[in-house]
Amino acid sequence: MAASTSRVRPLVAGNWKMNGLSAALAEGRQVRDRLQEAGFAAGVDVMICPPATLVAALAREVAGSRLRVGAQDCHPAPSGAHTGDIAAEMHKDAGATAVIVGHSERRAEHGERDRDVKAKALAAHRARLTAIVCIGETAGERRAGLTLQVVARQLAASLPEGADAENTIVAYEPIWAIGTGLTPSLQDVADVHGFLRGTLVEQVGSAGDRIRLLYGGSVKPDNARSLMGVSDVNGALVGGASLKATDFIAIIAACGA
Ligand code: 13P
Repeated sequence: MAASTSRVRPLVAGNWKMNGLSAALAEGRQVRDRLQEAGFAAGVDVMICPPATLVAALAREVAGSRLRVGAQDCHPAPSGAHTGDIAAEMHKDAGATAVIVGHSERRAEHGERDRDVKAKALAAHRARLTAIVCIGETAGERRAGLTLQVVARQLAASLPEGADAENTIVAYEPIWAIGTGLTPSLQDVADVHGFLRGTLVEQVGSAGDRIRLLYGGSVKPDNARSLMGVSDVNGALVGGASLKATDFIAIIAACGA
């Protein structure tokens, strides 16, 4: 399968997870302002996915700028008696353009299965949000040589009908690399991303060649450039290092270099 990295515009997305009070909006403003500077990472799209409580406020802060706002998780239904849940339509209404679904923390802490993730991705599409669908293996699965089998199963069962390069992004996040400071070797990343590219094309046809494949798991300013240089890596999903604007900006710069 031909590497398509050069033809796909990279995206650096920050996942703030359950971090950030209103004071954290200052970090978002700093990223917004850096992106306004002529020539800075002009070829890279940038998004911050704050907790739901900050989506509307951040969206107001970045209106008219290059910085996009995403949400984290959504309910499959558009409305109803689901106390504490948030519909994709509500995220859209608050100013989000995308939503992360199937993050391994949701899968582990809330028992989400592939079919739940697919329903949430469908909900995102219904609300005209881009679904950022997360997949990735555990340490045990990698040790057992099951990585490709696991991500293939997750991709097949989590991606909804109608997925294309506009409405869907896939994030490969090995669970053992999240928040640990560990990352796979560049060769391992290349192997998984190359495999995912081929699988995407088989699954959704030619659009699969342009669906962005993000790498996530301990992306930092000092490893971003090498990770982003791997073929079929079309950007990063950044957790901890997205919380500080200076680190996040350094990662964006590395991706744009
Ligand atoms: P870290 O960058 O903190 O490892 O988190 C990655 C992640 O889970 C992003 O969704």
